[in-house]
Amino acid sequence: MQPILADHPSLRLRRLRRTPALRDLVQETRLSVADLIWPVFLCDGEGEERPVASMPGVNRLSVDRVVRAAEKAAMLGIPALCLFPYTDPDLRTEACEEAWNPENLANRAIRAIKAAVPELAVMTDIALDPYNANGHDGLVRDGVILNDETVEALVRMALAQAEAGADILGPSDMMDGRIGAIRRALEAAGHRDVAIMSYAAKYASAFYGPFRDAVGASGRLVGDKKTYQMNPANSDEALRLVARDLSEGADMVMVKPGMPYLDICRRVKDAYGAPTFAYQVSGEYAMIRAAALNGWFDGEAAMLESLAAFKRAGCDGILTYFAPEAARILRG
Ligand code: PBG
Repeated sequence: MQPILADHPSLRLRRLRRTPALRDLVQETRLSVADLIWPVFLCDGEGEERPVASMPGVNRLSVDRVVRAAEKAAMLGIPALCLFPYTDPDLRTEACEEAWNPENLANRAIRAIKAAVPELAVMTDIALDPYNANGHDGLVRDGVILNDETVEALVRMALAQAEAGADILGPSDMMDGRIGAIRRALEAAGHRDVAIMSYAAKYASAFYGPFRDAVGASGRLVGDKKTYQMNPANSDEALRLVARDLSEGADMVMVKPGMPYLDICRRVKDAYGAPTFAYQVSGEYAMIRAAALNGWFDGEAAMLESLAAFKRAGCDGILTYFAPEAARILRG
């Protein structure tokens, strides 16, 4: 940082805040539609748009409707969609076999979107929670989340998603060694150009509450996720996780949740310079939306301010449920 070279009144920092033109000229960071990834929830059926109660304005979409959403995203200039399936309760088992079924809801949606809007990037979620009878991201034996057995399952899941045409795989499970295992399996299967965005610094957070409702995992979750997701009190550990995942072959890394962890975004970007993303999660969306619906603040302004903060913190992009709304405003 430069030292301040002049004193008042030679130096008046308000001079450059006087008009919109001057403010524009000295603006340090800029949010654009190209920074946005839109997470969408999937459900079975046709013509379905089922509201998520804890996320006003967000619906679970059947495959035909998610194709329409993808077309809308492409029209708005949003570069990528990220898919999260609400799996039929009958298909949730302790072995989680549905996770790597080539015909599961997520894989069907990937194929349908890539067929209709090939230029749009499709990102997936790799974790077992939407398929697990007990709501955990990993396989469970005697109350313990199994690491290496889970990684084998995640590799199968990753291969099925790559086969279906996914552009970006998003391992969100926080098992150790999964990035390397997935990367090796992709190379061996000839999927050399499939990218991995690792949920590298993912915290055990209360802000995921509405998401777990949306994918139907909240009622089932036995215990908590603290043996695999990070302690919110830690920061150095995030850097170790990011370094590890980059060394295992992640192309991009993510910090999650977003707003309460902007310090982590900044440290990660400064330390590695890798493409760094933040996930503005369901609870963050719910907070802003709820306050706006109550008339407690200007929802549009709060949304844009929250998204701009990620750019200021060093992020290259943001996963946000506000993506289509923000895109419309940003495009004027
Ligand atoms: C699960 C997963 C979660 C989210 C994305 N993938 C929830 C969790 O870890 O319990 C949360 C996203 C959100 O809250 O918007 N693998």
